[in-house]
Amino acid sequence: MKASNFSCLITAGPTREYLDPVRFFSNASSGKMGYGLATAALKRGWAVDLVSGPVCLAPPSGVSLYRVVTAAEMERVCRQLFVKCDLLIMCAAVADYRPAATEDRKIKKKADALEIRMEPTADILKALASEKQNQVCVGFAAETDHLEAHARRKLKEKKLDWIVANDVSRLDSGMESEMNKVMIFSRKGQSHAFGPAPKLDVAEFILRTITGAG
Ligand code: C5P
Repeated sequence: MKASNFSCLITAGPTREYLDPVRFFSNASSGKMGYGLATAALKRGWAVDLVSGPVCLAPPSGVSLYRVVTAAEMERVCRQLFVKCDLLIMCAAVADYRPAATEDRKIKKKADALEIRMEPTADILKALASEKQNQVCVGFAAETDHLEAHARRKLKEKKLDWIVANDVSRLDSGMESEMNKVMIFSRKGQSHAFGPAPKLDVAEFILRTITGAG
């Protein structure tokens, strides 16, 4: 992969799926890994579109930042940007489910149990990878068990070029941590491991690996 003048699309952080105006389903993603990837890509002189869910991080200078909240918004923005990118890295922890209905008013507390029907969100990465022209598509797999098996299955099912697997059951790496420990697998059968290391170093390793400069 020739990596000069690259245009890259990176997603980061969680999404929020609202139940009512004040309550939502989300996850513990801090966005640090995605923002680290954006920083590492900018350092290489690449143009970077960063599509970010709600996080408490300052955007790296030089990035084109698109703030989104829900998975549906992330999908809409990514679709627009995907056509002109060379590399997609879907690092965001997109919610897999959202409430089937969002109430306009705050749901009142009652004594009975509250049942919430959830429906699946669109799999953004799978949809984009199935429509790709020449883009390199990289996914993340956050797993608590059978890391390698789940990651390899997702690589195949989502028709990706690379997948980065991280063990989110560990306290010293993963979602809210400053550090990460990853394994990266390619469609062609390559595999590499890195870390535990600061997320910016992990980001550099990922870019080195997927550009073939590892
Ligand atoms: O299947 P799973 O959610 O574990 O896949 C994780 C990968 O898929 C990540 O790269 C994530 O950004 C992406 N994803 C997505 N749309 C979803 C769920 C996950 O693009 N609705």
